Amino acid sequence: MKFKRSEMATFVPSKKISMGESFGIPALNQVEIMIGESGGANVPPVEEYSFDKDRLGEFFVFWLSGLKALKLKGDPAAGKTSLVSQWHARLNWPLYSLSCNDRTTADDLIGQFIPQGDGTFKFFYGVVARAAMEGVSVLLDEGNALEPNAMLALHMLMEGYPVYVPQTGETIYPQPNFRVFFTENCLASKLAVAGRHLHDASTDDRFMEMNVDYLKPEVEIQVVKRHLTKVGMPADQQEMVADVMVKMANRIRSLYHVDGSTVIKPMSTRVLKRWAVLAWGFRGVSKRNEDPMLFSLQRAFGGLTPEMWAEVKAEYSKIAG
Ligand SMILES: Nc1ncnc2c1ncn2[C@@H]1O[C@H](COP(=O)(O)OP(=O)(O)O)[C@@H](O)[C@H]1O
Ligand SMILES: [Mg+2]
Repeated sequence: MKFKRSEMATFVPSKKISMGESFGIPALNQVEIMIGESGGANVPPVEEYSFDKDRLGEFFVFWLSGLKALKLKGDPAAGKTSLVSQWHARLNWPLYSLSCNDRTTADDLIGQFIPQGDGTFKFFYGVVARAAMEGVSVLLDEGNALEPNAMLALHMLMEGYPVYVPQTGETIYPQPNFRVFFTENCLASKLAVAGRHLHDASTDDRFMEMNVDYLKPEVEIQVVKRHLTKVGMPADQQEMVADVMVKMANRIRSLYHVDGSTVIKPMSTRVLKRWAVLAWGFRGVSKRNEDPMLFSLQRAFGGLTPEMWAEVKAEYSKIAG
């Protein structure tokens, strides 16, 4: 049996543009960066995203460094996955993604034979092998859930060495521009305890590491205000509402780290955006003596335990007064 390296084309960035233009940060107008053709295959769709200049700078250094692997660490919902995906979206750059869990194996990353239903088997490359051969990026989301064994298969590729695929008898040579991104929730965080492996030191040795925090309050307030404007809240009400919302989010995020708090999940920017939109939509509930802010928060921030909701409400009364 012989397996050809399908008709995989190597990705080549085709033009140079200004970083300021691609990321909406005028201060970076003079910085140039190579990007791919628009509409290329496997490029994530552009979403609304506020880039923090410092974080973008760190990412940029990694991008140009020639290093192959970047690990992004931070609290859940801080914006790790979306930073990687929106970076690639803005650069028209292909990115394969895989959500990892403790059942993810080296085969999922490199490749495996899959039965075809007619009794035959066909070899399918995993995301990492594909990315290496095509010279594009791969995101291993929640990569700390990976079995250490699965990680071992990655080490060689992450250092730019060829890897032999025993199933097909071929050797994969990582192409230039092959990069591995790896997100990890902080081990200190409560959601991260189950099913996460502490990787051995040899794995950690192979990454550049970067911390991703929640947006700064002044930036997040702007994000919330944009959404309030979109749904039609009058400008004179926006400042106060956005301020309370962002204060609440940051309060919940810090309670998440407090022992004895019932807060089991932090509030993401996504929940904040939803809260903003719903708060205006539900403004009518004040006629029934309900607070539209709380009414909409409960609907925007799903999956809370009754205990957590009680704590959130109590914090809200403190902040909103
Ligand atoms: N800087 C930001 N601008 C806009 N939305 C953001 C930003 N950071 C996070 N979000 C939104 O918050 C949600 C959670 O982000 P995500 O990247 O999935 O977090 P993580 O991977 O750290 O758990 C996503 O919907 C994302 O779009
Ligand atoms: Mg994520």
